[in-house]
Amino acid sequence: MALALKLLALWACVLLSSCSTAPESTLNTDITRLWGAYSPYFSAGMYTSPPAGCRVDQLFILQRHGARFPTSGASTTIISGIHKLQSVHTYTDPRLDFLKNFAYTLGVADLVPFGAHQSFEAGEDAYSRYRNLLRPENLPFLRASSSARVVDSATNWTAGFSAASHHVYNPPLSVILSEDGNDTLDDGMCANAGNSDAQTDAWLAVFAPPITARLNRWAPGANVTDAETYSLISMCPFHTVALYTIGQHILPLSPFCALFSADDFAAFEYSMDLDKYYGTGYGAHLGRVQGVGYINELLARLTHTPVNDSTQTNRTLDASPATFPLDRALYADFSHDNQIAAIYAAMGLFPQAAPLDPTAAPAHMGTWVASRLVPFSAHMVFERLACTRGAQYVRVLVNDAAQPLAFCADKKTPGVCELGAFVRSQAYAGGGGDGDWAKCFA
Ligand SMILES: *[C@@H]1O[C@H](CO)[C@@H](O)[C@H](O)[C@H]1NC(C)=O
Ligand SMILES: *[C@@H]1O[C@H](CO)[C@@H](O)[C@H](O)[C@H]1NC(C)=O
Ligand SMILES: *[C@@H]1O[C@H](CO)[C@@H](O)[C@H](O)[C@H]1NC(C)=O
Ligand SMILES: *[C@@H]1O[C@H](CO)[C@@H](O)[C@H](O)[C@H]1NC(C)=O
Ligand SMILES: *[C@@H]1O[C@H](CO)[C@@H](O)[C@H](O)[C@H]1NC(C)=O
Repeated sequence: MALALKLLALWACVLLSSCSTAPESTLNTDITRLWGAYSPYFSAGMYTSPPAGCRVDQLFILQRHGARFPTSGASTTIISGIHKLQSVHTYTDPRLDFLKNFAYTLGVADLVPFGAHQSFEAGEDAYSRYRNLLRPENLPFLRASSSARVVDSATNWTAGFSAASHHVYNPPLSVILSEDGNDTLDDGMCANAGNSDAQTDAWLAVFAPPITARLNRWAPGANVTDAETYSLISMCPFHTVALYTIGQHILPLSPFCALFSADDFAAFEYSMDLDKYYGTGYGAHLGRVQGVGYINELLARLTHTPVNDSTQTNRTLDASPATFPLDRALYADFSHDNQIAAIYAAMGLFPQAAPLDPTAAPAHMGTWVASRLVPFSAHMVFERLACTRGAQYVRVLVNDAAQPLAFCADKKTPGVCELGAFVRSQAYAGGGGDGDWAKCFA
């Protein structure tokens, strides 16, 4: 059983000399679950077993890489914000004092040891939960997108899987899909795909100014901008996951976290929700189509028929049993948050009654919440079930939470679809994205 890390959520009073000066907050919550796609993995719901009379007979795991350093673009704004704060000699609030001795030493984009640890734990958990599917001659088949952090996550996952099996099952990473080529595990192929800048900029203009004003009050003359405020908030998760060293039993929170309230983090979370929704999710006109290739591969494996896809698949790899076998019981694919969001939307998961509002966060958290959809080490698990009543069924779990699957669910058994009904429900993928793929290049 994986050793669960306890996250240190009681931060303000531990790190600060005075609790009474902590930013006011109306929320009483674990801030690590308000870090959007930078939240360390947590279960979004309690795993429940398949319905009585059913057992899992085939399994697909789509896994996001573990916690990483900021990307190079994100680092630039983080560093400029920190330098501005550090250029001020007298702070009016002691929460900034740590910056006098702070040096920015984070790497760029690569997996951090904490991310490796959570990937290892995910491999252990997958073995523990699904080991009945394994046979020595039927090992899990693994693929990864080619980014170093994704490949490292895959190999740490297999190390955890192997360790949990006492090294009886050592699945290799069989295919690495180049992000410069046809890759169903990355969102880099659709040239005309837009981005979420309009929506996230609109929301930044709503939520950031009061926080920016507070930072500039605490560091008079720093002239921090709203964009830098956003980056400084992101430094709380990035620095936190980077501070962890292997063997620690808690994740110590970065002193950057104490600069912000739970409400600030909730606003940051909503920015990420908007980013995933308008970046590659339902709100992006060419978002869903980028999930089509992966779903067509999933349908091929589920039904043991050759892949029929005209979008992102590498036809050469998918035509060969060596690089795309159809006879395995367990498959694991390693990918990125933006691509996983596209796959959720292409499949029909987390449907939204109305588009997310870029100018106001909803009063209550909805179902499109980045920290619950695509935290670091997120995973969608797709279970094919063999049931005593005859037919085959499927279930989908996202970060352990069983999905309702309203688009194909058996009325008598919510959350479970008859296999044929699931395949029919995937008409958008089956139809090659209904012409949307061509729009990527038109
Ligand atoms: C785990 O990931 C780290 C990067 O965080 C990498 O250096 C290491 O080689 C990986 N371990 C395995 C067993 O793949
Ligand atoms: C398809 O995969 C093969 C084998 O890895 C590789 O040589 C080729 O470049 C790939 N083609 C594209 C377009 O990605
Ligand atoms: C902030 O702006 C003021 C006025 O434009 C300027 O004098 C000062 O140098 C700026 N501070 C920083 C850290 O850029
Ligand atoms: C890569 O994808 C493009 C676009 O769908 C397609 O035209 C091309 O044939 C694919 N190449 C391979 C090797 O699958
Ligand atoms: C293969 O996919 C295309 C759309 O890309 C669809 O028109 C065709 O009917 C599919 N063929 C089969 C055999 O399902």
